[in-house]
Amino acid sequence: MSDGFSLSDALSNSNNPAPCAPPAQGWPSWGNQPLAPGAFPAYPGAPGAYPGAPGAYPGAPGAYPGAPGAYPGAPGAYPGAPGAYPGAPGAFPGAPAAPAAPGPSPAPAQPPSAPGFGPSPPQGGPAPPQGGPAPPMKVPFELPLQAGLVPRLLITITGTVNSNPDRFSLDFKRGNDVAFHFNPRFNEDHRKVIVCNSKFQDVWGKEERTAPRFPFEAGKPFKLQVLCETDHFKVAANDAHLLQYNFREKRLNEITKLCIAGDIALTSVMPTMI
Ligand code: GAL
Repeated sequence: MSDGFSLSDALSNSNNPAPCAPPAQGWPSWGNQPLAPGAFPAYPGAPGAYPGAPGAYPGAPGAYPGAPGAYPGAPGAYPGAPGAYPGAPGAFPGAPAAPAAPGPSPAPAQPPSAPGFGPSPPQGGPAPPQGGPAPPMKVPFELPLQAGLVPRLLITITGTVNSNPDRFSLDFKRGNDVAFHFNPRFNEDHRKVIVCNSKFQDVWGKEERTAPRFPFEAGKPFKLQVLCETDHFKVAANDAHLLQYNFREKRLNEITKLCIAGDIALTSVMPTMI
């Protein structure tokens, strides 16, 4: 059933001959089944390309408001930390309501430092129903990662591509620099391409355009997972490994923001440790 996948498989595969491309030896099949419409697995701990497992984010004490030093609660989640966003478990448009997460609610926690959060106020307004549909989140969206990146940090993003999309992007930022730019383009000279790059001192580096497929479609929901490893990012789309990107910026702890922008509606953004 698991096809031999183990956490160490996910984490040990650091030979990276072709940046922005799948490893030559291929991946164990991690539940890379085709996406059933509306059938994203419920999040943390659910099967997926980068399965969640219990863990605490080893951020500096107090790095996240309300969660000094760790992220207690539901396995692998950051309840109470910024990042547990509207998309609560299974709250995918058209998806059946998921069972409530065990443990503390992953209800939205919107830190004061993060502008442009989703429309669910942490206080003063009605709490979104657990497991119910979540309102869309504002795009562009910024997820503060105050303790920076760390190996085994998994960020799961769900959303829906707009109709007539041009592009969208994830940018992991260190100040104004972009450590990792992940940029699906829907119509670049009539082609679809995923561009990965970094930007230092306002200058883009060499683009990596070797993703073997383009898993996004206009009007369709998607799930993206970005796993920070020791020397590269792995990206999975709809539960199948897509590409990896070698770190060009190695000061992981200074990469303290994830910006999501472009032609998508966002449903959830969920950092967890695996
Ligand atoms: C540029 C584009 C940027 C970024 C960059 C990546 O052409 O304007 O937004 O995508 O490519 O190399």
